[in-house]
Formats: sequence, structure tokens, C-alpha cells
Amino acid sequence: MFYQLPPVGNPVKTTSHSEQSAEACLQSIAAGYQPFFYQSGTAALAAAVIAAMAQRPCEQPEVLLPAYACPDLISAVLYAGATPVLVDLEAERPWMSLTQLQRKLGEQTVAVIAVNLFGIAERIEAIQQLAHSVGATVLEDSAQGFPQAGEHDYWRADTVVVSFGRGKPVSLLGGGAVLSRQPDGLPRRAITPVTAMQRASTRFKAGLYNHLIHPRLYWMLLAMPFLHLGETRFNPLTSLAGMDAMRHALLPDNIENYQRAGAEGQQQLDEAIKADGVLKLAPACNTPATRRLLRYPLLVEPGRRERILARLNAAGLGASVLYPAILPEIDGLPDSLAMRQGAREAIRSQYPNAVDFAGRLLTLPAHSRVRPRDIAHIGQIINHS
Ligand SMILES: Cc1ncc(COP(=O)(O)O)c(C=O)c1O
Repeated sequence: MFYQLPPVGNPVKTTSHSEQSAEACLQSIAAGYQPFFYQSGTAALAAAVIAAMAQRPCEQPEVLLPAYACPDLISAVLYAGATPVLVDLEAERPWMSLTQLQRKLGEQTVAVIAVNLFGIAERIEAIQQLAHSVGATVLEDSAQGFPQAGEHDYWRADTVVVSFGRGKPVSLLGGGAVLSRQPDGLPRRAITPVTAMQRASTRFKAGLYNHLIHPRLYWMLLAMPFLHLGETRFNPLTSLAGMDAMRHALLPDNIENYQRAGAEGQQQLDEAIKADGVLKLAPACNTPATRRLLRYPLLVEPGRRERILARLNAAGLGASVLYPAILPEIDGLPDSLAMRQGAREAIRSQYPNAVDFAGRLLTLPAHSRVRPRDIAHIGQIINHS
């Protein structure tokens, strides 16, 4: 009980030594993109949708997105004033079905949100080819994926969205950015000033967070149910603001810190898991072994997944199912999108691959606090369950 790995959790650096600005730092990683900063990844995504709507004015703008995704995607689309349209996944992949995408693209489609889930790259080129044929923009949602040092071709779409929220690859416990090659129509927000009091409060929260994500202390967070840790809920976005000056200044150091670590833990997980009937998604998606992921994802038959999850969690090994269900089944959605009573099977039948994915996904921790002995233990449990 007193040793619990968090499922995600790279520490936050609260001191700034870098001489580079956040803009210069991001441009050195992603040449050709201009960065714009917002208060969260959700706000950045909303700004990107607003820009896509400005670039393709139409009466009832629609945005296509995967049926298995973070509900913040819905919050961003609704804030921008567009209608979310869900697309099934490919069978046994964290990718959108290209066949269903093609069928759902139409005159009202202003954008397609392509998600690098866990950091596994979506097939941006293929999605762009389809989206551009109807004049829609592709928004590459990279909240869960950030390039390694020297990986200059990780982002591929004309518009990329990143998050610096809790549990993200580069975490500042808040903030997000749009990286754009064509920023026409993007609502811009100035970096917001911070008072000495706010600065002290952010530093205190980040210090506390860095302590509590330690495996010897994380159980305390789990013991506080009012924190709703790991819970997936719809939260509406209510405003669009700029990122604060403190996080903006800390960003280059936190990026450097993230890029300093390698992907050895993932490679060891890959070798440790040998069980039949366990599909390792990163190699199945041809992910380079050196690409660092936010979580290490597997697909396992329902029933067996629950058995493995219970054993991993009893041993404090940080396993998780990520989102528990497809988007229409997530708690708190507005009535127009939520699954109506009696319509459950009819809705689920439209997204069979996403339903299968939600029922079989198991993610393992891939952050810097996972030790070789944790990995050996994880492998042992999975291989014998
Ligand atoms: C894929 C994806 N997109 C967007 C977001 C929203 O980012 P933020 O939490 O910074 O608002 C998240 C957050 O978990 C996410 O996982």
C-alpha cells in the first residue's frame, strides 16, 4: 500500500536557468511553426478550432474527432461553437478509422482532430490528404506526445496543439500552446502577468506535486477521493486566456529536462512482456523504440485485463485503463451528446473498434520513476495472469 507508482508524472522544474525564450525553444524543436500560448491545452485546442472555422466559414461547422478520446476535445469544440462528430478507431489501433473518416468528411467539416494518443504518432499525412480534399484543417493534438531531443520531424500537421498540464510529458501543471504554420484567424492572447503571491502559490503547488508523485507518497493522493484522481469527466471550457508569465518563463527548462531522459524504461517493458494474447501497441504501430511515450499501452482480452489490473494495482505498479469508455458514455456530457437511455447499443454499434479498444486497453507507467525491478515485476504479473 505504501509503494504506489503514479500512472504518469514527470516532475516540474520550478527554477529557470535557460537563456532561451519559450518561443525560441519551441522554434528550435519545430522549425517553421509559430507558437501561441494559452491557459491550458483545451484552450489551445479551442483557439485552433476557431482558426479553422475562420479559414473555412460555413453555417453549421463540424469537427471530426476519435470516438475514444479525452473529453476535453469535446469541451474545446463546443467552446469554439462547432459540433463534434465522432469517428470510430481502426481495429486494435489508437488511430482513427480512415474509412469512417472519409465517410464523415463533408461540406460542413472545418477540422479533423488527429490525436497522438500516448505519444504514438497518428497517420497525419493520410488524414491530411482526406481532410484537404474537402478544405478542412488537420489539428494534430499532441497533448500526450512531445518530441525527444533531435526528433525534429515528430509534428507534421500545419497546426499542432500541446498541453503543459498535470501528467503531461512536459508538465507545468497548466498551460498549452498552438504551434502553427498558418496562424490566420487564430485568436491571440497575451501572456498574463503574475503577482508575487501567485508566483509563490505556483511554486508551492509544484513543489508539493513533485513530492506527492514520489512512489512512497503517492498513496496519500490516492487516499483522497475528493481529488477525483484518474477520473474521466467532461468539464466545459468557459474562457480563453493566455498562459501566465511564470509558466512561460519556466517552459524552456522543463522542455530541456524532459528531453534529457531516454526511452530505456519502455524498451525494458517491451522485452519483459512476453505473454500470448497481449498486443503491444507501440511496436504494432511501428513506433521507433527510441520514441518516448507518456504511457506504455497494451490490449488484453476483457476479464483478463481486469485480473491483470487488479494484481498490478495491488502491487502498486501504476497500471491504468486511461478513459473507461467511448466519449458518449463519459460522465457529465451535455444532453445533446450524451448517450440517451435505451440508445446504448445503437450508439455503441456505430463505433465497434473504439468500444473494443476501451474494453481492452491497459496502460503501464513509462515515466522516470519506474525502476528496473518494477518492470520485472510488471512483466512477471502480466506473463502469469
Ligand atoms: C489528448 C488530449 N488533448 C487535450 C487535452 C487537454 O489538455 P489540458 O489538460 O492542458 O487542458 C488532454 C488532457 O488530458 C489530452 O489528453
